[in-house]
Formats: sequence, structure tokens, C-alpha cells
Amino acid sequence: MFDIHSHILPEIDDGSKSWEMTLEMCRMAQADGIQHMVATPHANERYPYDRDAHEIRLSELRARFGSGMEFSLGCDFHMSYENLQDLKLHPHRYSIGGNRYLLVEFSNYGIPPQIEDAMMRLGDLGLTPVLTHPERNTVLQQNLSRVLRWAELGCVVQVTGSALTGRWGQRAQQAAHLLLEHQAVHVLSTDAHDTTSRPPILSAARDAAAEICGAEAAQAMVNGNPQAIIQGQPLPYFPKPMMGS
Ligand SMILES: [Fe+2]
Repeated sequence: MFDIHSHILPEIDDGSKSWEMTLEMCRMAQADGIQHMVATPHANERYPYDRDAHEIRLSELRARFGSGMEFSLGCDFHMSYENLQDLKLHPHRYSIGGNRYLLVEFSNYGIPPQIEDAMMRLGDLGLTPVLTHPERNTVLQQNLSRVLRWAELGCVVQVTGSALTGRWGQRAQQAAHLLLEHQAVHVLSTDAHDTTSRPPILSAARDAAAEICGAEAAQAMVNGNPQAIIQGQPLPYFPKPMMGS
């Protein structure tokens, strides 16, 4: 499996607290069947994003972990006005492996039309948005048809694996189920932050998704699709979402 959203780099955001924890997270992921992890540190008001420094840390992780796991660098990109200004100047500073796919995260407090427009216009910068965890966003939970519309327009939708298995409560779980039922989920990711509360485990979510949308689609969400994203390729599984209730 391929995990495109994780906070495995130590001591740079609210993810891993130490190299010991980072290496343990990678071992857990490997034992779960994950072969490639994308480290996606936050870029927001609290955690400034220094691509060069993160690249150096990722190289150190490759050296420390050794063989058996591949790593890439991305960013958990918060859709703020300030971030967007920098993105326009440096479109590939935040994307996965510097390719066309950019993780985007919305605020829980509101999604102004200008920010929504900016997401839909990322194509002008040569970028494809990968919307992270809409099922956990309190604004979107109340208006999931918005997410279906975005998916119809080509936005990639990434759901947190542990939301499907109940870690984020009933509302997030129901939202994740609804998006899956409407064929509007393309990728499942761990969004791992540690080894206990938010561990890098995907297999349970893949199995839960298979119950809802079938084994083949669930497999695409942890394998073919995230692999294509890492490689900067079109997604092999991108069905038209089923609109309506
Ligand atoms: Fe994240």
C-alpha cells in the first residue's frame, strides 16, 4: 500500500516527537503492508514550511530506516490567503515529490468562496488538488454535496483511514461512508501523527471500505491511486460521483 499523508518527520509539527517515534511509525506501517510513505508536514500559521529543511530530514530518515520503505515529501497545505500567495510564486514547493498533486486542507471555521475558487483554479498553476479529510471538516460534514461537486470537477478526495473505523466519531464516520457510497473517495491515507492515538495503519480502513464499495475499489484507494499520485500520473480509479442524496 501507499500512504500519501503522514506526519512522520520528527520534531517539525504536531506529528512525530522524536527519531525513535518516527522509526517506530515506519516499522508499524511496514508491518501493515505499506511500502511507500509520503511525509506531509503542515504549512499553516503555527508550522511554517521549509521545503529544503524537510528534504534534508527526509534524506536522514531514508538513511536511518534503510531498505524496505520508500519515502517522498509533500505538504499538508492549509488553504489560507498567505499560503496561496506563496504557492502562486512557487507552485511546486508544496506538492508531492514536486509533481502535480497537492494536498489541500480547509479550515473548520468556514470555506469562503474565494478559497473554493482558488482550489478549483489550481490547474492554472499545473496542480491537481487532493482534498484531505473532508469527512472530518465540520463545515463540509454539513454539506457533503459540495464535496461531490468538487469530485465531479476533478478534485481528488482523500479520506482518513481511521475515520472509516470510528476514530473521529460518528459524524465523521457517517460522512466517510456517504462519500464512499457516492463514489467520491479516491484515496485512503493514515494522516499518522504517532504510534498510539493516530498510528500509520491502513489495512483496517481498506477492509472497512471494501465492505461498502467492494474490494476492487478499496484496493485502488490504498494502492493504484496513491501510487499514481506519487508518480504524478492520472488516477486509474476515478469514477463519476453519484450525485443526489
Ligand atoms: Fe495531516
